[in-house]
Parts: sequence; structure tokens; C-alpha cells
Amino acid sequence: MTVHFIGAGPGAADLITLRGRDLIAAAPVCLYAGSLVPVALLDHCPPGARIVNTAPLSLDEIIDEIARAHAAGHDVARLHSGDLSIWSAMGEQLRRLRAMGIPFDVTPGVPAFTAAAATLEAELTLPGLAQSVVLTRTNGRASAMPDGEALTAFAATGATLAIHLSIHRLPEIVDTLTPFYSGDCPVAIVWRASWPDQRVARGTLSTITAAAAGGPERTALILVGRVLDAQDFDESSLYADGYDRRFRPQSAASPFAGEEA
Ligand SMILES: C[S@@+](CC[C@H](N)C(=O)[O-])C[C@H]1O[C@@H](n2cnc3c(N)ncnc32)[C@H](O)[C@@H]1O
Repeated sequence: MTVHFIGAGPGAADLITLRGRDLIAAAPVCLYAGSLVPVALLDHCPPGARIVNTAPLSLDEIIDEIARAHAAGHDVARLHSGDLSIWSAMGEQLRRLRAMGIPFDVTPGVPAFTAAAATLEAELTLPGLAQSVVLTRTNGRASAMPDGEALTAFAATGATLAIHLSIHRLPEIVDTLTPFYSGDCPVAIVWRASWPDQRVARGTLSTITAAAAGGPERTALILVGRVLDAQDFDESSLYADGYDRRFRPQSAASPFAGEEA
């Protein structure tokens, strides 16, 4: 018996890995985090599977479900939205399962920030503009930000920011970031990226609050950075004519010449 933690992706039912889909199809028990996991994924469950929405359950109740499946020798497909490595509450479940000696594995998923970037048709790391993406959030009721992770600390780097769980704080975020990025810095908000009711607002730090007015107060990514509307950026050296590299040695004297790809 194994508990399969599976990244269920950002919303579109076909944005799940083949491995994730096959694990769901083989598990007699499926626990899914109901608020963001698309119910269409449950169509992959085998006939007669026990399917439980864990949104209204406590951690103890979720672990009880898993313990019952373990006692019965039933595999569990445990679905969380996006990928499991960020804001999934997987860590606390794994800690309990380790203590109980219940086996598990982890299958990654498509995180929401990549779905939002795809919607915007944006590369978040453009040469000369930004080479880092900060996945962050602001203080929430359930989780306070640790000391040192204030938005101002990340803003000081000038990196592309992907701000989660914070759409209800947009005006405050704009005020915090403007001294660092300046008012003309592009901002995009994607609500429910990849869902059928996806919505997008674009603007700058000066205009985004008005552009986003009336938008939902949940399930949105706020992306901030010069990469979002840049046309004037350097091309990557990787594909430049004359750039000597392992897959394209430029002469017989190249240190890469004769190496197998
Ligand atoms: C609890 S976190 C889950 C993050 C998830 N584990 C991931 O890999 O993206 C929920 C937050 O992720 C963002 N989010 C999740 N799905 C989204 C989507 N389809 N479109 C935009 N933002 C999304 C929102 O900021 C939302 O408040």
C-alpha cells in the first residue's frame, strides 16, 4: 500500500502528468483538496473508488482516512492543486506518515505560476532583464511570513515576482513595490489560469489596481517585472552564431570537438 501524492495541476483537467493520471486510475481511494483540484480529474478514478473531498477535513481526519486505507491495504491517490512543492500542506502530511510508517511517493504537477506565464505567453527570465523568479506570497491568516521574507527584500533584487495568495492585498503590494520597480513596471494578474473562466488584467504598477478592479478576490497570480512586456532584450548566447558549446563545437580546436552529444 502506498499513498501517492500527486500534483493535480493548475486547473485544466489535461494539465496533469501521465504518471499522475495512471496512479489515480489505479488507486481505490482518492483524497482531493476540493477547493482548487478540478473535479474532472476524478473521472480517472476506478469504478467504486472511495472519493473524499478533504477541503472540509482537519489534518487529523485526513490522516484517519489514510490510516483506514493503509489498514485495508488500499493505495491512496492524494491530489493537491498545482505542484506539491509549494503551498500544498504536503509537508505536514508526510511528517505524520513517516512517523506512522506508511509508505508514500510524490509525483510532481504543473504549478500555477507556469500556467499563468503560459497564458501571458511570457518567458519570466529574459537575458539582461531578469534571471530569477521569486515565488512568494504576503502574510496570510494561516501562515505568517518568516522574518527576512518581506516583499521589500525580494523587490530589492529586481527579480520577476510571482506573488501568490495575495490578490486581496493588491493596493498594498503596489505601494510596496513601486519604489523598487517604479510605476511604469509591467504587472499582469491571471485569475484561475487554465480554467475555462480564466481572466487576465494587464497594466503597470501605476495602473494595475484600476485594471483589476471588480476581479475576483481569490485564485490569482500577480506577476511583476520588466520581462512582461519587454521587446528590447538580449538574445541568449546559447543559440548565437559562433557560440562554442558541447552540442555545437565551432572548430576542431574547440574543447567540445569530438565529444559525444
Ligand atoms: C494554496 S496555493 C497552491 C499553489 C499550488 N501548489 C501551485 O503549485 O501553484 C493557492 C494559490 O496559488 C495560486 N493559484 C493556484 N491555482 C491558480 C490558477 N489556476 N491561476 C492563478 N493562480 C492560481 C493563487 O495565488 C492561489 O491563491
